[in-house]
Amino acid sequence: MEWLNLKGKIAIVTGGSSGIGQAVVKELCQLGVKVVNADLSEGSFIDENLIFLETNVADRQSVEQTVNEVIKRYGKLDCLVNNAGINIPALLTDKQGNSDYELNDRIFDKMIDVNQKGVFLMSQLCGRVMVSQGTGVIINMSSESGLEGSEGQSCYAATKAAVNSFTRSWSKELGKQGVRVVGIAPGIMEETGLRTIEYETALAYTRDKTVEELRQGYSQTGTIPLGRSGKLVEVADVVAYFMSDRASYVSGVTLNVAGGKTRG
Ligand SMILES: NC(=O)c1ccc[n+]([C@@H]2O[C@H](COP(=O)([O-])OP(=O)(O)OC[C@H]3O[C@@H](n4cnc5c(N)ncnc54)[C@H](O)[C@@H]3O)[C@@H](O)[C@H]2O)c1
Repeated sequence: MEWLNLKGKIAIVTGGSSGIGQAVVKELCQLGVKVVNADLSEGSFIDENLIFLETNVADRQSVEQTVNEVIKRYGKLDCLVNNAGINIPALLTDKQGNSDYELNDRIFDKMIDVNQKGVFLMSQLCGRVMVSQGTGVIINMSSESGLEGSEGQSCYAATKAAVNSFTRSWSKELGKQGVRVVGIAPGIMEETGLRTIEYETALAYTRDKTVEELRQGYSQTGTIPLGRSGKLVEVADVVAYFMSDRASYVSGVTLNVAGGKTRG
């Protein structure tokens, strides 16, 4: 689309093999962006504008390899979408004493590693390139839970609150050097790879529900003013806009893409 004028831009999308990341990859490819999917494994979507580079965002060496390869191939980087993320529901304390669903050091460290350290590593390595170019955009995929908190997902929500804080601070540090940093906080979305049976079982437990009751809740959209869950493409649209020069004066903010939902 000419209004966005993204043709020929170079973008890295982390976690682009599934869910929201894949929707972003598809949309950017359609708009003529050269897209690098940086994920643990390759997804099913194939396009002439897309390459896959196996990447673990939580590992500095792996991130360095990916960013070096992108610069070797394309010679520049216009946009980083920090989308890769994991969510392992767990309670702070379980009154029934079931340690399977209480936060432990392993779950805590894993979520911080991917959702928070991964965003730091990718942003640092890509940020250096963007600062040396004097231009670039970093888009952080947060979550509405990072703004509001979430029962059974306190650690996940805390990693997203940290990401919101990164967005604000890095926009202050990098703005002077021509780099914008923005965030997107999706609310309740259509199904993605994140919604595994392990995830649903754990989340249902933390909310005193059965998995069936939890699933019925997905279609009860009374808490969403627009009355429906979000489409993945509706997040991708915001990524495309944020990446474009149409958003050239937008930095340091996280946009809630949640159909008006602000509590939950
Ligand atoms: N689905 C939702 O309802 C929702 C709502 C709010 C926010 N989000 C956020 O959107 C982002 C995408 O979520 P999704 O629902 O599409 O999830 P998903 O599970 O469908 O996709 C996540 C992708 O990230 C990849 N990934 C995981 N760990 C990685 C690592 N260490 N290195 C590289 N890639 C890794 C996975 O392989 C997967 O392809 C996440 O940051 C999530 O927190 C999702």
